[in-house]
Amino acid sequence: MTDRSGIFITFEGGEGVGKSTQIRRLADRLRRAGHDVLVTREPGGSPGAEAVRHVLLSGAAETFGVRMEAILFAAARNDHVEEVIRPALETGAVVLCDRFVDSSRVYQGVTGNLEPGFIEALQRIATDGVMPDLTFILDLPAEAGLARARRRGGSDAPDRFEKEEVDTHEKRRQAYLDIAAAEPRRCRVINAGRPEDEIAEEIFTLVETATEASVAAEQVS
Ligand code: TYD
Repeated sequence: MTDRSGIFITFEGGEGVGKSTQIRRLADRLRRAGHDVLVTREPGGSPGAEAVRHVLLSGAAETFGVRMEAILFAAARNDHVEEVIRPALETGAVVLCDRFVDSSRVYQGVTGNLEPGFIEALQRIATDGVMPDLTFILDLPAEAGLARARRRGGSDAPDRFEKEEVDTHEKRRQAYLDIAAAEPRRCRVINAGRPEDEIAEEIFTLVETATEASVAAEQVS
């Protein structure tokens, strides 16, 4: 466990829901407000985890099965937590991370059909007590998200996860909503089908409230 003074915020959702745009906008706004902000992503975010990212997203690990993939995601996460996230939180930074444990719960756990106990054990090891203070789940019907992801795709070939079918995406969407319902203090569901500005405003307001609450809690302790 850690003596943490920063704030850890994660962004989750299916493909094409606009996570990276919203992370960029929030980071800019928080920096303008004087916060020290670190933007990072998973899988990856540290040199060790970026090496594992390449193995995972190229599909090279696919032949070894979904358990192997889940363990690799967890290995990457642990390196990212210990090398990047925990040290940044210790300096008081606001850490914005594109995907984290909920992606493993949804992609490997629910649509990969892995037992919840196996996934949760991996997450305990991977995070070693560093869990998000706040998680934004950007919610969009699967068809809309996939269409956006393809438009955004440019010259890159879709990775193995983006090739999957709409019903898989719809299952993931529901799995994210289930996590939000189970953990209402940490998770906020954001309707990602609205104009970008409106979404950015809602997210900023929610973060401001969380930041003020955390400053107040520190002053009391
Ligand atoms: P990426 O190219 O970063 O896409 P996105 O913009 O959707 O985040 O690819 C990350 C892919 O890895 C994405 O399809 C989700 C998947 N993933 C998992 O399956 N499990 C995980 O734990 C994480 C972090 C990501």
